Amino acid sequence: MKEQLEQLRAKAFSALEEASDLKALDELRVQFLGKKGEVSAILKQMGKLSAEERPVIGALANELRTDIENHIKQRVEQLKEEALQASLEAETIDVTMPGKPVMRGHSHPLTKVLNEVTEIFLGLGFDSVSGPEVEYDYYNFEALNIPKDHPARDTQDTFYITDNVLLRTQTSPVQIRTMEKVKPPIRIISPGRVYRSDAVDATHSPLFHQIEGLVVDKDVSMAELKGTLELFIKRLYGEDSVVRFRPHHFPFTEPSAEMDIQCFACKGEGCRLCKGEGWIEILGCGMVHPKVLENCGIDPEEYTGLAFGLGLERIVMRRYNIDDMRHLYENDQRFLSQF
Ligand code: DAH
Repeated sequence: MKEQLEQLRAKAFSALEEASDLKALDELRVQFLGKKGEVSAILKQMGKLSAEERPVIGALANELRTDIENHIKQRVEQLKEEALQASLEAETIDVTMPGKPVMRGHSHPLTKVLNEVTEIFLGLGFDSVSGPEVEYDYYNFEALNIPKDHPARDTQDTFYITDNVLLRTQTSPVQIRTMEKVKPPIRIISPGRVYRSDAVDATHSPLFHQIEGLVVDKDVSMAELKGTLELFIKRLYGEDSVVRFRPHHFPFTEPSAEMDIQCFACKGEGCRLCKGEGWIEILGCGMVHPKVLENCGIDPEEYTGLAFGLGLERIVMRRYNIDDMRHLYENDQRFLSQF
């Protein structure tokens, strides 16, 4: 029986050495030390022994039980330690690996140029104000001297929300809102989104941006209008820029004009960029119509005003030689990262 115990010891220890995970160790614990385990099986035969042998074998069996138990504990510790080492190794951070580049954002070209334009006008003493994009017919048309049946309405394909609420087609309504609120002297620009029901192509979009300008004071003159706009263009496009004013018609100004800039590419000769014209139209402007001043409770006998409105997209496209407006809205990184 002593021999059996020795054999069992050898068997148990080699099995424990081979066990490669905690589950296997647990199974071995049951196999050797459980109620129906192999050590118990030997102890069950104790009845056959003599009274002298019994305590000796009993002591040996208990010793074996304790030894197996201790060895299991040891192996559990060992396996846990190995698992820890393995996971530490697997999770090592290699600080010499190259990092993932973090892309740095920057302003959209429309924002960049708008900031420049705003800077120039702030430098000339203008404030920058904003107005609502969902606007009343009154502010977008009526108060600007464009009554219901006026043909100018046809040129601005309007998104109507109700009979008298619409998406503004121009930033000019901010002129009215400003003059209703503040007394002259007034000197503001108002950049923002405007909407027209146009199909998308290289030069049209149902959503685009305008910058409105308005000056109202005593003795504001056409000369000041021309001087201000010429100075603005020289700051924006360079001192050697050449501009000209052409008579035009807007219902809210009298007289009205359009300002052209001489084509940078051909210096007025006529080329593909300017479609053979030599000049490129850049904005509309004029002296605020007396009726418009009156509509806002400003006495046209006492005050005069100048106003202008320019398309931001057009200026950005000229600035960077972009030939298709759609690039500005498609958020293509290959395009945007060039600015
Ligand atoms: N609102 C005009 C448009 O959308 C642009 C414009 C022209 C604005 C002349 C003005 C102005 O303030 O005086 O076509």
